[in-house]
Amino acid sequence: MSVSGSGLDPSVLQALANAMFSAPPGAEPAFGQAPAAPSGPINLASPLPPGGIPVAGHNNPLPVATTLQMTPPLRTTQPGAAELATPPSFITPRVLPVQAQTPDLHGLQSTVLPALPKGGSGLAGVTEGVAALLPGAAPVPNLSDAAVPSSAQPPSSPYYFLGEAVSTGGVPAAPPLKLDGLSDPFGLAAPARIPATPPAAPSAPASPSAPSFYFADLATGLGSAKPAANPKLAPGRGVFDVATIRRDFPILQTRVNGGKPLVWLDNAATTQKPQSVIDRIAHFYAHENSNIHRAAHELAARATDAYEAARKKVAKFIGAPSPDEIIFVRGTTEAINLVAQSWGKQNIGEGDEIVISHLEHHANIVPWQMLAAEKGAVLRVIPVDNTGQVRLDEYQKLLSHRTRIVSVTQVSNALGTVVPVKEIIDLAHRAGAKVLIDGAQSVSHMKVDVQALDADFFVFSGHKVFGPTGIGVVYGKRDILEHTPPYQGGGNMIEDVTFEKTVYHGPPARFEAGTGNIADAVGLGAALDYVERIGIENIARAEHDLLEYGTDRLCRIPGLCMIGTAAHKTSVMSFVLDGFTTAEVGQALSEEGIAVRTGHHCAQPILRRFGLEFTVRPSLAFYNTFEELDLLADTVRRLAQTRRRG
Ligand code: ALA
Repeated sequence: MSVSGSGLDPSVLQALANAMFSAPPGAEPAFGQAPAAPSGPINLASPLPPGGIPVAGHNNPLPVATTLQMTPPLRTTQPGAAELATPPSFITPRVLPVQAQTPDLHGLQSTVLPALPKGGSGLAGVTEGVAALLPGAAPVPNLSDAAVPSSAQPPSSPYYFLGEAVSTGGVPAAPPLKLDGLSDPFGLAAPARIPATPPAAPSAPASPSAPSFYFADLATGLGSAKPAANPKLAPGRGVFDVATIRRDFPILQTRVNGGKPLVWLDNAATTQKPQSVIDRIAHFYAHENSNIHRAAHELAARATDAYEAARKKVAKFIGAPSPDEIIFVRGTTEAINLVAQSWGKQNIGEGDEIVISHLEHHANIVPWQMLAAEKGAVLRVIPVDNTGQVRLDEYQKLLSHRTRIVSVTQVSNALGTVVPVKEIIDLAHRAGAKVLIDGAQSVSHMKVDVQALDADFFVFSGHKVFGPTGIGVVYGKRDILEHTPPYQGGGNMIEDVTFEKTVYHGPPARFEAGTGNIADAVGLGAALDYVERIGIENIARAEHDLLEYGTDRLCRIPGLCMIGTAAHKTSVMSFVLDGFTTAEVGQALSEEGIAVRTGHHCAQPILRRFGLEFTVRPSLAFYNTFEELDLLADTVRRLAQTRRRG
């Protein structure tokens, strides 16, 4: 339809369009549109006490996610989990002797760093073979654990709901973002409307261990927090409406494998993105795209503002005192490498010790191994007990005046263990060591406050918290960052360059050489806005219910062995099924539209600690439902029933 044919004044249309397009998603367009209605089902009226719920016997209030300890223990088919009487040795037997280098840069002078030696890390490996101590543990699968093939989703899926007038996390409900003249910018078919009401209650009998609403007495003032008539429709006791939440995530409407609704239970690998994040990134490229910090034009100002606003959002989200303490990187892996290669090279020398835990993802092992090999340092490993929790008693024995840094995960990606990082940090500080917390698996599940934790470094990835891939964060205490040399050299991180010498910027620019991932940093900011609108405490409640329910359903399946049964867990339900490879289980689930990760989860040492190479790993987010967990458990149970006898 032509503009003239519309009967509207083109200049009025133009003004409206300009107002619309110059307002970022989530902001009110300047032409005075009424503010977006709050997302009705999300009850933000009754926040939890700051810092979490006080728990008897603990000096510090625990974040909500740790309140798993307040519940009856999660059921498991795994037999008794007594701690090891004699922990295996985890001390590195040998490191390559390399001359220690502690360049005294203080961040001001360029330097030439020594080349890495070839030939491995020098760490001969952590002692293994404790699997036999796990009576009843499933046999170690020997078959190849090939990835489950995924089904491609045709872009013309009728279930794609782009343009649906739903709550999109702060984006005005209507009209949806359209990109300059394109009514369907992605070339997709007209969307099917998603019903506004939750689906009918399933008729399956209630599980004997259905959630018991133990938060009800804590959630004072939560008008909707009384037990729902059917708890299966109300993870988190109705603090938000999961059906409404799910409409914010277009991919959750996708069908796979010939029409099966997608059941996304691979959230520990990556989370799905709300429409507000997708729109924000599109808006950036449509209306703000420019390099940042170094041009005198309007778009550079817009892009710089958007990027720096995202930095502020990250700082607020994790409780950092200042955005100057937030460094954007590609993800958690790059974040840990940055700390190891900058702070680590400066502060760790021959004979010094680096402490990690047995739970770590490879990203929190390999960079430290590389540094230890280069410097002649020693890597020490905190053992875990048979539930998959770190042993604080053994940790204390590892600390000494040689300990320079303790680098541990807050949540295990393979087991879901919530690690007591506050205690770990306090003990490390008493020994004079710095602490890095790997928050890749925690930030989407629990409140993080880096100041309350007193973490020296905290790192995470955007894509695990409903943001884009390719963007991540290093938080570092200002004083530490100011005395740490750069990680990479190049543009953007310098104040002055001559052929004789370079003067670096202060943090954070010093650590952001080159053109960064501007658009995805902005997208991460939108993701954090989205999480904050729902409330991380509400998310923790809902996921707690889901975890308890799913764990109980799975553990009732004959031959299923849950791996990782710590009292404090979040999100992850790793298991093996007697008589089946993990790939076979993954394949059976995929055929029902259920996406899980099978394999070693980039955490081989902790799986080998349990005598395994692979597990099946369903992992939760707040948009999952009890019905999805029923489908998961029913599918696994059906598969188990096909087990060949004799
Ligand atoms: N770290 C991601 C995972 O645990 C990839 O699956």
